[in-house]
Amino acid sequence: MALGSWGVGRKGNSLRYAVACVVIAGCGLLVAGAWQRSSAQETSGAPAAGGDQVARGKYIVEDVAMCGTCHTPRLPNGQLDRTRWLAGAPVPYLPAQPTSDWPINAPRLAGTPPATNAGMIMLLTTAVWIDGTQLRDPMPKFHMTRADAEAVVAYLRSLR
Ligand code: HEC
Repeated sequence: MALGSWGVGRKGNSLRYAVACVVIAGCGLLVAGAWQRSSAQETSGAPAAGGDQVARGKYIVEDVAMCGTCHTPRLPNGQLDRTRWLAGAPVPYLPAQPTSDWPINAPRLAGTPPATNAGMIMLLTTAVWIDGTQLRDPMPKFHMTRADAEAVVAYLRSLR
């Protein structure tokens, strides 16, 4: 009896190993495919300029990095105020643990960003601001590709 269930258990295990191997191999293929696609995009996307670059920056800002959730003022109902998009806003979050060093404002980004292109790109690719330090939480420590950072800056400059 005990031996029988041991046998079943072992069979079950080898089946599980087989399934795991197939799954792992499948993931490997997916990752390799995605990597190939993204490196192809990076090379072909690097010289992107004008409308394409602004559209890519808009996508990163609005749908990936979500800059607007902090840098855009809110309406009384809590929705972002699209008429003041990225115009600077009071930080909507409080730290869960008390800290004396929590920013009260997320500054304006739209139109003329608060640093030169080089300063903005350094911030977005290395998380180091123009004063040589990291900005305080909850500003995320972004490590974008240079092409993505350039697209974000092109988009911010395209705003009023
Ligand atoms: C979760 C909230 C949050 C998100 C998301 C966010 N930020 Fe910030 N950001 C802040 C806060 C808060 C500060 C102020 C930090 C400080 O005072 O140390 C800040 C500061 C900055 C500054 C410095 C401005 C200055 O004049 O000092 C820049 C530039 C900036 N953010 C750009 C961005 C961009 C671009 C994105 C999206 C790619 C982004 N931030 C996303 C909260 C956020």
